[in-house]
Amino acid sequence: MGVLSFLLFCYVVNGISAIAIPRISTDKRNDRPIIGVLAQEVYQPQPKQNSYIAASYVKFLEAAGARVVPVMINQTEEEYTQLFKSINGILFPGGGVSILSSGYARAAGIFYKLAMEAASQGDYFPLWGTCLGFEQLLLLTCGENLLSHTNTTGVSLPLQFTKEAAESRLFKSFPPNLIEALATENITENSHTWSISVESFMKNEALKKFYKILSTNTDGSTEFVSTMEAYNHPVYGTQWHPEKNAFEWSKPYYAHTPSAIQTTFYMANFIVSEAKKNFHSFASKDEEEKHLIYNYNPVFTGASSSFQQIYYFE
Ligand SMILES: *[C@@H]1O[C@H](CO)[C@@H](O)[C@H](O)[C@H]1NC(C)=O
Ligand SMILES: *[C@@H]1O[C@H](CO)[C@@H](O)[C@H](O)[C@H]1NC(C)=O
Ligand SMILES: *[C@@H]1O[C@H](CO)[C@@H](O)[C@H](O)[C@H]1NC(C)=O
Repeated sequence: MGVLSFLLFCYVVNGISAIAIPRISTDKRNDRPIIGVLAQEVYQPQPKQNSYIAASYVKFLEAAGARVVPVMINQTEEEYTQLFKSINGILFPGGGVSILSSGYARAAGIFYKLAMEAASQGDYFPLWGTCLGFEQLLLLTCGENLLSHTNTTGVSLPLQFTKEAAESRLFKSFPPNLIEALATENITENSHTWSISVESFMKNEALKKFYKILSTNTDGSTEFVSTMEAYNHPVYGTQWHPEKNAFEWSKPYYAHTPSAIQTTFYMANFIVSEAKKNFHSFASKDEEEKHLIYNYNPVFTGASSSFQQIYYFE
């Protein structure tokens, strides 16, 4: 009898979930997305170590079902254009280089311009900026540096969601209990000395027209924008680090609670789901293989670095 009722229970549960799960969409979707991650100059160049990507950004995207191509700095505009036509989105990572004059800034500017041109022809190419990448997106959108100093190095904070967050593309399919955790627990890690204050953001017409603020935070005196998404473009940014919770371990303020790890995954899942709406591809399997990050090996840098592993490039 016990076994029978257990079986019945399973049957009913399956019956419900079969109804609740939406049918597989017939919309076209690219289930083999490849996302570019932009490299940047190292602080102190050494032989074969002139630029780098922290491996956590790579793992972050891979964990949600994407492959990664490193986007090197100092390439020609033609090379970037070719790469743009081959990948399905790009992530501008955090870091410490100039958003005005570095190789990182130049490459980001070229990809931003290509994405805007593509958008005007209905080609959906997502851009994601984390921390420095977020600041770079702001600069590219409004053409000036409006950042101001905040006391926000090495602190995990709860997000102060705006009213727009609930209906945002980014957060609307997050589980309600995760949104609750994000709003109340110290999950989102901040490692930046510069921020865009809500005041400066709201005073700038270009930014206000382009981006919707999804969350803010404060350092105790300045309220700054911490999450944004563009109204009409697949452009997103967080001043905080979604990739660190699951993949970085060297600082006591990186949160590893269940909700913190879930945050890493849901953020990555969103970015990858956006890249699945893009259908660029490499000219051949050979070209694709030549570009993938699998051609490089990350180096363990734990004790001396805020990253566990780093990919270095010539
Ligand atoms: C990029 O180009 C600059 C200027 O030509 C050069 O100084 C720098 O070493 C290059 N960096 C890399 C990683 O190629
Ligand atoms: C910066 O914030 C930390 C807490 O995160 C605080 O301990 C410190 O005193 C603050 N520094 C300044 C200069 O306000
Ligand atoms: C979050 O961190 C702050 C210090 O930065 C601390 O005062 C607060 O108690 C923490 N909140 C939780 C829920 O851990």
